[in-house]
Amino acid sequence: MIELKSVYKKYKIKGFFSKDEIYALKNIDITIENGKHIGIIGESGAGKTTLGKILSLIEMPTSGLVLFDNKSVTKDNVREFRKKIGAVFQDPSTSLDPRFTAMATLKEAKPDVNSIYKMCERVNIKKELLTKHPHQLSGGEQQRIAIARALLPNPEYLLLDEATSALDMSTQAKIINLLCDINRDKRYTYIFISHDLKLANFISDKIYVLYGGEVIEVYDKANDKPLHPYTVSLLKDAKTIEKENSEGCFFYNVCKERKNICKTGKPSFKQINSHHKLKCFLYD
Ligand SMILES: Nc1ncnc2c1ncn2[C@@H]1O[C@H](COP(=O)(O)OP(=O)(O)OP(=O)(O)O)[C@@H](O)[C@H]1O
Ligand code: SF4
Ligand SMILES: [Mg+2]
Repeated sequence: MIELKSVYKKYKIKGFFSKDEIYALKNIDITIENGKHIGIIGESGAGKTTLGKILSLIEMPTSGLVLFDNKSVTKDNVREFRKKIGAVFQDPSTSLDPRFTAMATLKEAKPDVNSIYKMCERVNIKKELLTKHPHQLSGGEQQRIAIARALLPNPEYLLLDEATSALDMSTQAKIINLLCDINRDKRYTYIFISHDLKLANFISDKIYVLYGGEVIEVYDKANDKPLHPYTVSLLKDAKTIEKENSEGCFFYNVCKERKNICKTGKPSFKQINSHHKLKCFLYD
C-alpha cells in the first residue's frame, strides 16, 4: 500500500532574479491499496505529473509523508522502495535514450537477456525490433519498450502518466488491451494518470480528481458516480474553466449549480460515504 499524507510540493519559478514559488501540490492525502487500479485525473497544470513523480519516488515532497506499506520513505531509504514501482511517462521519444537500441535500454533495467525475451513476448515486441533505436520505432512500439522497461525489475506498482495520450486511437486501444492482458498474469497495482476522465473511468476502480494542485473529489467507480459539478463536466467533455474564481470555489464562474456562498467561501471535504468525498457546498 502507498499512502501520501498532507503532501505539499513547492517549485521555484526559474528566472535569474525571480524568487517566485508555486505550489504544484497542496495538502494531498492518497491511499493506494494493493491490487487496485487508481485513476488520477485533471486538466493540464493540475499537478498530475508532479504527483506521479512523488508516487514513483523520482521526487520527494516539500512537506508531508510518503509511506510504502506503512514505512516512511526518506532520502536515505528511497532507493529500497523505488524498485517497487515502475513508471511510464507520456512521451516515449523523450523518455527513451536516443543513443541506445531497445535491447540496450532493456538491459539497463535487467541485464538478463532471457528475461528480456520473455518480457518482449508478454508485451508483444518482436525480437527484430530490439536492435533498433527509438527514432526507428513507431510511437506504439516505443511505448511497449517503455512498458517492458518498467516491468522488467518486477515492480508491484505500475504508474502510467498519460502513457497513451501521444498515440493514435487504435494504438491507444492496443496499449490499453495490453495493460489488461499483462494484469491477468500478475495483478499489478496500476496508477493511471490522465486528462481523460472517460478513459481513466474505464480502467480504474477508484478515481482522484485534481484541480490546481488539490484533490477535489475521490470516488469508488464500482459504487458511485461523480458528484462534483467540475468532475461531471469533465465526464461530459464540457468546455471547462476559462477564468477561475480566485477567492471561493474555483469552479464558481461556470458552475450551473453555484450558490452565493461559493463566490467567497472555500468548500472543504464532505464525506458522502466511506468511499466518496468531495469539496462542494452542494453537499455541505
Ligand atoms: N520543475 C518544475 N519547476 C517549476 N514549476 C513546475 C515544475 N514542474 C511542474 N511545475 C508547475 O507545477 C504545476 C503542475 O505541473 P504538472 O506538470 O504536475 O501538471 P500536469 O497536471 O501534469 O499537466 P499536463 O496535463 O500538462 O501534463 C504547473 O503549474 C507547472 O508549471
Ligand atoms: S462549491 Fe458551488 S460553485 Fe463550487 S462546484 Fe459546488 S456548487 Fe459549484
Ligand atoms: Mg503531466
